[in-house]
Amino acid sequence: MASKSLCFVLLSVLVAYYIYQPLPDNVEEKWKVMLMDATFRSLGHLSTLAEVFGMKHYMDVMMLLTYAEHTEAVSDNNVIVTDESFSGIPVRLYIPKGKSKTPRRSILYIHGGGWCLGSAAMKPYDHLSKQSAHKLNALIVSINYRLAPKFHFPVQFDDVYNVAKYFLQEKVLEKYSVDPNRIAVSGDSAGGNLAAAIAQTLLHDPEVKVKLKIQVLIYPALQALDLNTPSHKENGQMPILSKTLMVRFWSEYFTTDRSLFEAMMFNKHIPSPDAHLYKYVNWSTLLPEYLKKNHVYNLPNNQNTLLVKKYPGLLDVRASPLLAEDEKLTGLPLTYVITCMYDVLRDDGFMYVSRLREAGVQVVHEHYDNTFHGILLMDDWPFDFSIAHQIVDNYLNWLDTNL
Ligand SMILES: *[C@@H]1O[C@H](CO)[C@@H](O)[C@H](O)[C@H]1NC(C)=O
Repeated sequence: MASKSLCFVLLSVLVAYYIYQPLPDNVEEKWKVMLMDATFRSLGHLSTLAEVFGMKHYMDVMMLLTYAEHTEAVSDNNVIVTDESFSGIPVRLYIPKGKSKTPRRSILYIHGGGWCLGSAAMKPYDHLSKQSAHKLNALIVSINYRLAPKFHFPVQFDDVYNVAKYFLQEKVLEKYSVDPNRIAVSGDSAGGNLAAAIAQTLLHDPEVKVKLKIQVLIYPALQALDLNTPSHKENGQMPILSKTLMVRFWSEYFTTDRSLFEAMMFNKHIPSPDAHLYKYVNWSTLLPEYLKKNHVYNLPNNQNTLLVKKYPGLLDVRASPLLAEDEKLTGLPLTYVITCMYDVLRDDGFMYVSRLREAGVQVVHEHYDNTFHGILLMDDWPFDFSIAHQIVDNYLNWLDTNL
């Protein structure tokens, strides 16, 4: 009996130790955050084990969450939901019920998941799209682009781009009674990366006549050049998205070859001959003072040119929208950027805000100083955070006023 109690106590201590994680003071609902993060970490550990034993690719196990959260296309009282295909690429459409007298607004939505995970059909994305369609009386096109590790850059970009180009044709917009002057692109995390990349490319595509009114970038990843910005250094162990996982996502976007991952972990993947590109991601000039703190800016010093030759996507503006020259940014639509303080990607968002403003683009920047990456999707059971509701409400209210 005594040994059973002892086992129980030991086990409880171990579980508590596993779950407990120090969090910044201003993060709310700390225990819920820790539980949620422990769940994600467990899945990560399981994926690592499966990979170490040669059973599965890391991302194939991580995909379990995407499958577990899969929802069918189910309409409700307000929105008709269907799975379709645009230009051969699967999309989930959300059409508000009831005829509107005037053509309606529309959002092309691009889900996150590090170019490797996620789907429009995942419960949190499906829920967000339904809410957006209903509250904004907008048609939502949520794009199911192909994922790594099966497909690498530029497949993800191309899929999203092809859907956008198909949708932005006047005859297609007319079919869905969409107002060509009120279309937004929006995406979170890797989806924010793709949203920024297609907004830039559409702007300079002479075949596209209809222009975007708005781009929304929700804690986007915007550059693969410098993976050692202050936010990478400070938030490498924060909930949901560790630096290791983010670097894994970036490297898988280009290749499954582990040597890229290893070089990226040490920020030694871009050779010095390409150092001129660093001016576009120079956090020392592009971040506000309070985020630079006492971090010291150093150009990475690396002579290895092999990786950029093998994976030219590393220097491609369609993968790293921050690498665009100033002239290419001028003319981009009204931009809404969401960043979170405790996020490795925080500085990508801040740097893009600076660069867009310098290029004369109108930017509204919502920075949440008390939360972490991925929070937008946690507004439902079992991890229902009040800050997530606030962020979604602000997002929808802003779109309602501006789109
Ligand atoms: C980055 O900015 C700093 C000034 O804050 C400057 O000294 C440095 O040369 C810049 N580096 C690059 C690569 O632009």
